[in-house]
Amino acid sequence: MEPVSLQDFEEAARRALPSATVDFLAGGAADEITIRWNREAYDRLRLRPRVLIDVSRIDTRVKLLGLDLPHPVLLAPVAYQKLLHPEGEVAAVRGAGTAQAVYVFSSSANVPVEEAARVATSPLWFQLYVQADRGQNQEMIQRAVAAGCTALCVTVDTPVIGPRNREQRAGFTLPPELTVPMNPQNVKARGAGGTSRRVSVTWTDIETFQSLSSVPVLLKGVLHPEDADRAARMNLGDVIVSNHGGRNLDTAPATLDALPEVVDRVAGRLPVLVDGGIRRGTDVLKALAHGASAVMIGRPYAYGLAVSGAAGVARVVEILRAELEMAMALVGCPAIVDLDRSILG
Ligand code: FNR
Repeated sequence: MEPVSLQDFEEAARRALPSATVDFLAGGAADEITIRWNREAYDRLRLRPRVLIDVSRIDTRVKLLGLDLPHPVLLAPVAYQKLLHPEGEVAAVRGAGTAQAVYVFSSSANVPVEEAARVATSPLWFQLYVQADRGQNQEMIQRAVAAGCTALCVTVDTPVIGPRNREQRAGFTLPPELTVPMNPQNVKARGAGGTSRRVSVTWTDIETFQSLSSVPVLLKGVLHPEDADRAARMNLGDVIVSNHGGRNLDTAPATLDALPEVVDRVAGRLPVLVDGGIRRGTDVLKALAHGASAVMIGRPYAYGLAVSGAAGVARVVEILRAELEMAMALVGCPAIVDLDRSILG
């Protein structure tokens, strides 16, 4: 049966992948409470539709960092995609192109960024896990920008990797052939349920990254309004409200719960994105209504990649976009620019 929802893709991927890989992908930190909260926050929030509004034309376009995007669904950085498909990130980037989605390339990818850039037909951003060797960061950033990445997304929620108990119980290890061309150290550091990576990133590093290239610097993994405020004062490109899909600090709040305070504090000074638990068009709508400029998905497109490569990735985004259009029509809000919190409640 053809998958018709993101949940269907997840179930098909669970059948297709080795069970330890499923545990790596689906799992999170400790008791996985934050993973559960990420979902529950969307399920709990009700939509209050308005009626008798002309919804014959639905407009999902958004403007973000100088880009005119046809829809607000971006693909979050996901490491080690050759675990999921023989072509790994190359297939995912192709799928992103078909779906006209921004693709955020992980610094723990299994292909060189240049290879991904060659097949990219939608914007490519580069995600950085800051390395202890500061020279290496500079090299990675310059290489990514030279390859064509148009934003630098610095992940700031991972000074250490959280206790990935599900992964540990499954005995998950990275196959040795999956070396990481951008970042060889990372692979060595990461055993089963790897916890050995420890690199403190501070605001000074962020300033350095701003000075190293002309592309906007984005912060991925902000939950506190004070941090978002500081990012806005530093003229960063955007902040991404994220708890790393519940993979690091268990009992960190659901991102949908953290979002409104961040949006209010930033007050339009920079765009706020959000990820974590988004599985339906109605979830996208709720995040946008709370003031997010766009959303990112992680696991869902990884499942799509595992099920049917580039086509699966594209299909996942297309399903979400189609669901978003239906939800916009059904709540009586035909354009994203007109969305606000009045539809929530
Ligand atoms: C991730 N995530 C992640 N984030 C990051 O900044 N760099 C990375 O390399 C990875 N790798 C990674 C691998 C896997 C298997 C998962 C599931 C997640 C986190 C990711 O970018 C994103 O924040 C979450 O996946 C969003 O939550 P959902 O959509 O998966 O619920």
